[in-house]
Amino acid sequence: MEALLKLFGGTLNSITSKCMVLFVTILILRVLFFPSFDGIEWRNLVYIHNHSQPSMSSSEFGIRPFKFLVVPQLVWGLNNQKIAFARACLTARMLNRTLLMPSFSASLFYKEIELLQPISFDKVFQFKKFNALCSGFVRLGRYSDVLNRTRVLEMSKGSGRKWTLDRDLSQLKEYSKGSYDDYEVIEILGKNPFLWHDHWPLKDYAKVFECLVLIDEIRNEVEKVVSRIREVGNTRSIELQKGRSSFQPLPYVAVHMRIEIDWMIHCKKLEQRLNTDQICSSKKEIVERVRNIVIGLKKTPTVIYLAVADKLLNNSSIMEDWGEGFLPYEKKKLGIEGIYKKYSYLIQSAIDYEVCLQADIFVGNSFSTFSSLVVLERTHKMIGMSVARMCGTDVRWPSYAYNVPGESNGAMRWITNMSESSLQTISYGTNHVSNCKGHI
Ligand SMILES: *[C@@H]1O[C@H](CO)[C@@H](O)[C@H](O)[C@H]1NC(C)=O
Ligand SMILES: *[C@@H]1O[C@H](CO)[C@@H](O)[C@H](O)[C@H]1NC(C)=O
Ligand SMILES: *[C@@H]1O[C@H](CO)[C@@H](O)[C@H](O)[C@H]1NC(C)=O
Ligand SMILES: *[C@@H]1O[C@H](CO)[C@@H](O)[C@H](O)[C@H]1NC(C)=O
Ligand SMILES: *[C@@H]1O[C@H](CO)[C@@H](O)[C@H](O)[C@H]1NC(C)=O
Ligand SMILES: *[C@@H]1O[C@H](CO)[C@@H](O)[C@H](O)[C@H]1NC(C)=O
Repeated sequence: MEALLKLFGGTLNSITSKCMVLFVTILILRVLFFPSFDGIEWRNLVYIHNHSQPSMSSSEFGIRPFKFLVVPQLVWGLNNQKIAFARACLTARMLNRTLLMPSFSASLFYKEIELLQPISFDKVFQFKKFNALCSGFVRLGRYSDVLNRTRVLEMSKGSGRKWTLDRDLSQLKEYSKGSYDDYEVIEILGKNPFLWHDHWPLKDYAKVFECLVLIDEIRNEVEKVVSRIREVGNTRSIELQKGRSSFQPLPYVAVHMRIEIDWMIHCKKLEQRLNTDQICSSKKEIVERVRNIVIGLKKTPTVIYLAVADKLLNNSSIMEDWGEGFLPYEKKKLGIEGIYKKYSYLIQSAIDYEVCLQADIFVGNSFSTFSSLVVLERTHKMIGMSVARMCGTDVRWPSYAYNVPGESNGAMRWITNMSESSLQTISYGTNHVSNCKGHI
């Protein structure tokens, strides 16, 4: 409601705003005096008129372009926001509605709502590309697409123990029918979509993620980072291969190394709760397991890109103990801190994510959502390229979990099980990471 008021606030004339204030007052009074009221709220809103209607091209057949869904601002880390976004898309798909472009949050604040810095979807990802790639599956719209001077149907998601998966599902089904469905706009009120119940198989999420392409400006920055990583490798490679006839660029391994103190506190608690010792890896353990993968694959010398929290950038210990044949770098040592510094938290995180996605080998922690999403996308990419033997030793884009011991004292091979019926394992972590056992 607040978001909508803000959005349309600029175009409301004073009479309508007075009406609005009156209306809101009535609403508040109503909530105060009838606290048990939790039904549907009807209200009038004036939308900006815009007659350049979205075209109903045949390729968009599948999702109705004139029925819309509005969701609350997406918050927290990049991964939480990506999951929230996909969940909002899949909710809209279930209602056969176009999702009005949601706002991401540029900064990483958990409580201070006013510091969240909303950033529009199309300042991060390509809007047209998204609709082209996801055509027929899910659809994004702009607020200016909403044509009618219409009423908005509010849909309040319940919360707490009593709001079960089944109840949530029947609410969605109810709102996709009859008089509810007549409304041009449905606005879901309540918490961040990340916290909504999950009704969709993993592969549907993967399909949405695949349609998220960074805008050119950010892609160029990713390009700069990746070519800088390749450059340090190549310089070394030329030195080492002097006199040989063929020149091979060095591979790079991206390691999502989580050893900062906040993570350690979090993961120690998690280990206690889940009664396991395979969540928190020390720096020593990570280095050893990554080294053993690379040695096993006979890929030395190799460049190691350390995707670490900013607070570890000044800690030289992460660069130590890698030994012969390994060239560890983080953004500071690569001299690319400047590229990141220009951007907000969200964009910095999106760049690092992409660098991990493109790495020849990725090694992460299976209890990290960031790592899990990277592996999901890498697995999806392998399937897209029809890599038949995903568990073979010679595949492109292999991923590993350093917190789980694998073959020859290395890390465990990690591919996402695309048949999972929900996103559960990705949002909350698991150490059953490998479904390579028993495969080729
Ligand atoms: C109407 O929508 C089109 C395309 O969505 C946009 O380019 C244009 O700026 C909008 N016009 C107004 C007045 O909002
Ligand atoms: C959405 O509605 C359109 C038109 O009624 C229909 O052709 C299409 O199959 C529906 N799509 C989904 C995903 O239900
Ligand atoms: C706007 O909505 C009303 C009621 O839902 C409908 O009767 C009318 O035809 C719509 N106007 C346009 C321009 O779509
Ligand atoms: C690292 O240390 C330098 C000065 O020694 C400081 O300017 C910089 O902000 C520090 N960076 C981080 C991420 O703590
Ligand atoms: C550097 O990181 C290591 C490993 O996490 C930690 O033990 C050490 O205290 C850190 N040093 C500084 C100066 O932050
Ligand atoms: C993948 O997930 C499905 C559904 O949860 C499960 O039945 C199957 O056993 C899993 N496959 C592997 C190899 O773990």
